[in-house]
Amino acid sequence: MAVRVDLNISLDGFATTTDQTPENPFGDDWARLTQAYAATRTFRARVMQETSGEGTTGVDDQYAQAYFAEVGAEIMGAGMFGLHTFGDDPDWRGWWGDEPPFHVPVFVLTHAPRPPLEMAGGTTFRFLSATPREALEIASAAAGGKDVRVGGGATVAREFLSAGLVDRLHVAIAPILLGRGIRLWDDLRGLEDGYTVTSEVAPSGTTHLTFSR
Ligand SMILES: NC(=O)c1ccc[n+]([C@@H]2O[C@H](COP(=O)([O-])OP(=O)(O)OC[C@H]3O[C@@H](n4cnc5c(N)ncnc54)[C@H](OP(=O)(O)O)[C@@H]3O)[C@@H](O)[C@H]2O)c1
Repeated sequence: MAVRVDLNISLDGFATTTDQTPENPFGDDWARLTQAYAATRTFRARVMQETSGEGTTGVDDQYAQAYFAEVGAEIMGAGMFGLHTFGDDPDWRGWWGDEPPFHVPVFVLTHAPRPPLEMAGGTTFRFLSATPREALEIASAAAGGKDVRVGGGATVAREFLSAGLVDRLHVAIAPILLGRGIRLWDDLRGLEDGYTVTSEVAPSGTTHLTFSR
């Protein structure tokens, strides 16, 4: 069982975008940041629930497949779930539609827990206030021997990296500059210690950097 983080970041290290508006809740930069991932056959089938079978099938898709493989539980932050944007809406059920792509128990870290949500396809959202280590214990117990993914966002991923709880970090570095947002790498000096680091460049220009131990 491994604890995994997979993130898309920009060349200048940003894991969040800042151009969201009420009319355009993801902003234009999110599409720039995730362009190669969103183009993959795996993303289109698994997240967009397309049945056409279309999408790229090269290096980026191999990492997209790996993203979903062998995950038994997911941890995410209140921001990634959308509570920072829709916290006043008691009926908010997350960004991922009626049948979210996780299909496993998802634990949402928040200081304002709310009742659990059962979604179609086996995804349940449970809300908890806990330290990263406590959350990991709970998620590991629910993961049935499979991996736990810390899905994000940037703040929560950084908390787990700072606490030394991550066994495998994969970042897909998009060849774009965002210039602002939350930087994944800040205050993580020496993070590479104890990891084997590999990189692979996809034809899309995305660099897949993996830290494993
Ligand atoms: N680049 C990528 O691959 C990627 C992946 C996923 C998401 N994202 C982006 O990340 C952004 C969201 O990230 P974010 O950094 O703003 O927020 P986040 O990491 O999703 O959530 C942080 C929030 O979670 C709650 N929290 C964190 N640790 C906690 C703990 N130990 N106990 C209780 N609550 C805790 C706190 O919220 P409260 O105090 O309000 O409860 C905290 O402000 C979005 O813009 C999304 O698009 C990027």
